[in-house]
Amino acid sequence: MQNKKTGTLTADQIGQMRAECILPSTMTSFPMNIVRGEMQFVYDDQGKKYLDGFSAVVTISVGHCHPEVTNPMVEQIKTLQHMTTMYYHPNLVRYAEKLASVMPDGLKVSFFTNSGCEANELAALLAKNFTKQTEFIALRHSFHGRTLMAMSMTGQSKWRHSLPYVFGVTHASPGYCYRCPFGLTHPSCKVACAREVEDIIKYGTSGKIAAFIAEPIQGFGGVIDPPREYFEIVYDIVKRYGGIFISDEVQTGFGRTGDKWWGIEQWGVKPDIITMAKGMGNGVPLGGITCTREIAESMREKVHFNTYGGNPVSMAAGLAVLETIERNHYMRNAKAMGDRLHEGFDKLVRNHKIVGEHRGKGLMRGLEIVKDKQSKEVAPQYVQRTMELCKDRGLLIGRGGMAANTIRIKPPFCITKDDADFILKTLDEAFTIIEKT
Ligand SMILES: Cc1ncc(COP(=O)(O)O)c(C=O)c1O
Repeated sequence: MQNKKTGTLTADQIGQMRAECILPSTMTSFPMNIVRGEMQFVYDDQGKKYLDGFSAVVTISVGHCHPEVTNPMVEQIKTLQHMTTMYYHPNLVRYAEKLASVMPDGLKVSFFTNSGCEANELAALLAKNFTKQTEFIALRHSFHGRTLMAMSMTGQSKWRHSLPYVFGVTHASPGYCYRCPFGLTHPSCKVACAREVEDIIKYGTSGKIAAFIAEPIQGFGGVIDPPREYFEIVYDIVKRYGGIFISDEVQTGFGRTGDKWWGIEQWGVKPDIITMAKGMGNGVPLGGITCTREIAESMREKVHFNTYGGNPVSMAAGLAVLETIERNHYMRNAKAMGDRLHEGFDKLVRNHKIVGEHRGKGLMRGLEIVKDKQSKEVAPQYVQRTMELCKDRGLLIGRGGMAANTIRIKPPFCITKDDADFILKTLDEAFTIIEKT
């Protein structure tokens, strides 16, 4: 039996089929059948329109099916889809050269994968090769992917399985001021969380590390952005103990934090390796790393290969995303719309007792939801209810945090003032309803 409007399967049918033939642990938000996307909007099989306030989990950077990305991809797919990097193709080097031009100084050499976890695996491998060390510092509340090394670096039990992990990863505090584990307040704390990284290395490792890895703003962890001095202090410690600095820009990259290409640039720190995926391909499976020449040379003797990595279609998509961001001034828009949301979120915090605080930069934003401001008791049930109320009103939003009590707002870069205002109005309505019940 098919849906009469679209000729596709109905949501109920898909649900039954998923139960039978898809891994039961596959993450599901709502049993909705989304069948079409256009820029900042998606449509379900009944034709209902939604503003995608979460960009298909921070993946649609410039807009769903953006013609400036889709058209070059379609042209490429009709000409040559795949031959692997064992042969030459101009798209690989064209994209790598363009990517290098938007990287922080000194980051010039790239390798492409299909996903963020593969990118992080490669970054860890490069760090080990370059430093001849094996130990890593990662952050609590972080998320780096679902492969073994990426899971070992991830700092949230909910995203880790009970496995023998890759040894040698120690987790430090991320600068989560709203719930400071030291019970201190910024700036009188003198950023104790960042300074503690030195003790963690001194007492918890051999005294030498391969790398420190962090998301500039934590995504799945609940949009945790550290105080302004945090990364500079940590960078200095990491360098003194021989490590390299890896910035996981899978969510923060490509202008999402507004005005700058890379999230870490908001903190004035220059990483040694940037890892990326998600918005990089605007929905195409594409990930990668860019590093310094010296780090790249450390692996020259070992042949490296990824079957689909660097294929002509993904490379066409990646290049088109960069050009589309530039042509449409999307970084500037991410900043402007982010500022508009910031102002509106200030009001939501003031007017609603269940909104503890809001965090983030550009179009990478989060609101931490609590039972009330005094107790700060986490309230994931309110987040679930907000998601439902927003969905009914035509807005899709995300959730994150160890306690799943942070609402994540990360729309595509093409949103307008009206869209930003719609997000604010819809959240306001949802919080009002929740507070009355
Ligand atoms: C910051 C970060 N790093 C890495 C990953 C892993 O990316 P992928 O799912 O493409 O392997 C994710 C995925 O959400 C992420 O948010």
